[in-house]
Amino acid sequence: MAREYELKPAPSDAVDGVVGSTTTINRRQFLRYGFNTAAGVLTASLGVLGFSAILLPPGGGGGGDLAVQFWAKGREDEAWYGAKHLQPMTKADFEAEAASSSTGTAGAAGVWNGVPVVVNYVSHSNYAGTPESNGKARFQFMEGYDETGKYVGHFEDLAEADPRLMPNDDLVMVFGRCTHLCCIPGWQLVSNSFTEDSWTPGGGDDGGTKLFCICHSSRFDPTALEMNTNRNRSNGATFKYAGIRRAGGPAPVGLPIIPIQLNGDVIEGLPDYVDWYTYCD
Ligand code: FES
Repeated sequence: MAREYELKPAPSDAVDGVVGSTTTINRRQFLRYGFNTAAGVLTASLGVLGFSAILLPPGGGGGGDLAVQFWAKGREDEAWYGAKHLQPMTKADFEAEAASSSTGTAGAAGVWNGVPVVVNYVSHSNYAGTPESNGKARFQFMEGYDETGKYVGHFEDLAEADPRLMPNDDLVMVFGRCTHLCCIPGWQLVSNSFTEDSWTPGGGDDGGTKLFCICHSSRFDPTALEMNTNRNRSNGATFKYAGIRRAGGPAPVGLPIIPIQLNGDVIEGLPDYVDWYTYCD
């Protein structure tokens, strides 16, 4: 059943920890952090593939060192982007895939400067304002408190401070480590309703709108954008972040957004909110 929200005014400290945060790390530290992150988890979960396979030279993505690349290692024969492994992602790739989707969406795992990411295309500009009964996904901006009384937050408060956080050209990118136990789960985009937490384990990448973590079955909804709170694993500092909604399963909160821009048609990530990814070592 879909979560219900009671809308309330945003608290005055809504952007604490994001704008003017004191728990910051610089770009150099982030790149090292990202490589270390990917190395540890990929070695653990994929064994013989090893980490060296995804170390990217600066500018190696074909669109500058900010370019996002498809990551289909081990899934070359089943993922729609299997033949594009380590090629730079383009908006046209996602538009073409979404055109064959029943919900107007497409998702793909990627790697960005050694960091695992997931990119989702939601045909928002085509379906915003159309009846939800048509089953076509569009972005939803969540806010307020959930039914348990937990504050979810106003995505717009963060996006107004930095418009780059808004989905860019119907694309949204998130950090690809689950907020439950930080694994990189071989995300699947599963078939379901985009407004409810219905899901099909073992689903393919096409035609769904929930990101499914194969580790312990957490689900995340890349169409539902919200502000949430998480904790720096190293120093315990809490921070608010813009993210996508946790739809179900043991994960405590949603996944943080990585803002993007288009360089021509190539999708690039922006390393401005690296603190949001520090809930994992
Ligand atoms: S690590 Fe994703 S559900 Fe446990």
